[in-house]
Amino acid sequence: MSTTRTYFDHNATTPISEVVRLAIPQALESWGNPSSIHWEGRGPKTFLREARIKLASMLGAAPLELIFTSGGSEANNAVIKGVYFEMKDSGRNEYITSRVEHPSVLKAFQFLQTQGVKVHYLDVNRSGEIDLENYNKCLSEKTALVSIMYANNETGAIFPVKQMAALAKQRGALFHTDAVQALGKISLDLKDLGVDFASFSAHKFYALKGTGLLYSRRGTEWEPLIHGGGQERYRRGGTENALGIYAFGLMAEKLQAVPLEAKKMSDLRNHFEDRVLKEIDRVTVNHSKALRLANTSSLILSDVDGETLLMSLDMKGFAVSTGAACSSGNPEPSPTLLAIGLSRQEAQNSLRVSFGWSNDRQQVDRFVEVLKTVVARLRSLNPNQDMPVNHV
Ligand SMILES: Cc1ncc(COP(=O)(O)O)c(C=O)c1O
Repeated sequence: MSTTRTYFDHNATTPISEVVRLAIPQALESWGNPSSIHWEGRGPKTFLREARIKLASMLGAAPLELIFTSGGSEANNAVIKGVYFEMKDSGRNEYITSRVEHPSVLKAFQFLQTQGVKVHYLDVNRSGEIDLENYNKCLSEKTALVSIMYANNETGAIFPVKQMAALAKQRGALFHTDAVQALGKISLDLKDLGVDFASFSAHKFYALKGTGLLYSRRGTEWEPLIHGGGQERYRRGGTENALGIYAFGLMAEKLQAVPLEAKKMSDLRNHFEDRVLKEIDRVTVNHSKALRLANTSSLILSDVDGETLLMSLDMKGFAVSTGAACSSGNPEPSPTLLAIGLSRQEAQNSLRVSFGWSNDRQQVDRFVEVLKTVVARLRSLNPNQDMPVNHV
């Protein structure tokens, strides 16, 4: 087992930034309940207020349009179920989403289907395009909510959310985007995007796990997912994760660096893909021509089992992924890769490499060298690979 580790799995989670690490010991002194009126409550209350102001200003929102949650999954569930419970008697009982959403969106919609609502699932093709023609057909005066992710966690595909939100608005439907993978990779301005709701997660942006954010445009009505105390203006009950929110707030300022960091990540990603395509045969880059996240490379390596490849690379000190982290340990191929038209075999031969702000070219070059040898070894052991023909 290699002792130097190189992390290329930033779409699963990101390392905790130096800024956050250094600030935590002092922040732990402010352990009070943010709702308390006494002195002990003041520090954590300030954490919440400052983080809300900083995040709102960086995301193009008003502070009171932000609701802190436990993460992206909760924010997604809160919108989808909250809009359903709010609108179920309004005559709008149809929903639109895509086939490649995160499970926290897809499973929330599956729950709505058990309640009798109609959910339309839009296809995404092998080139990374979402079916806009079908979208236009599905949108109607019956549509309550559309939920389309900003960028896909597995392939990095970026969807035309601004255009889709404008179309939804024309029909009076609400629009939600799961922007968990966009944060820190694309500059975001929620007002300009024209969405009603957006979900975010702190651990995908160098802060702590267990903290997320739901943007809810002023004036939107939905039933809270968690009923409880009056926290978050009665929209999300439960004592807030003050430390996690504080850490998330510290990272808000770093959002200024997104254009520069995105350029660095796309240079790394392009260098990686150029080398892989030149030096390893039978490799396909998914959505190579599509608009996609600067940091994400989704590959199919023929005749190489993704899980075995991942484990071999792990032994050599590299952390990568074969699909979403939440499906690891599950031998089924990724539903997202199947949904974009890959065969089961291709999905099982897949590898996701997702770069982050601290990766550099030397790490990428070392990785390509290791990948070349590991792929060659696994292919030589694979009984299914094309055998050379011996002419006798
Ligand atoms: C696109 C997307 N949405 C939602 C989530 C869930 O976020 P969290 O882990 O904060 O619940 C993830 C995490 O993998 C994601 O990639």
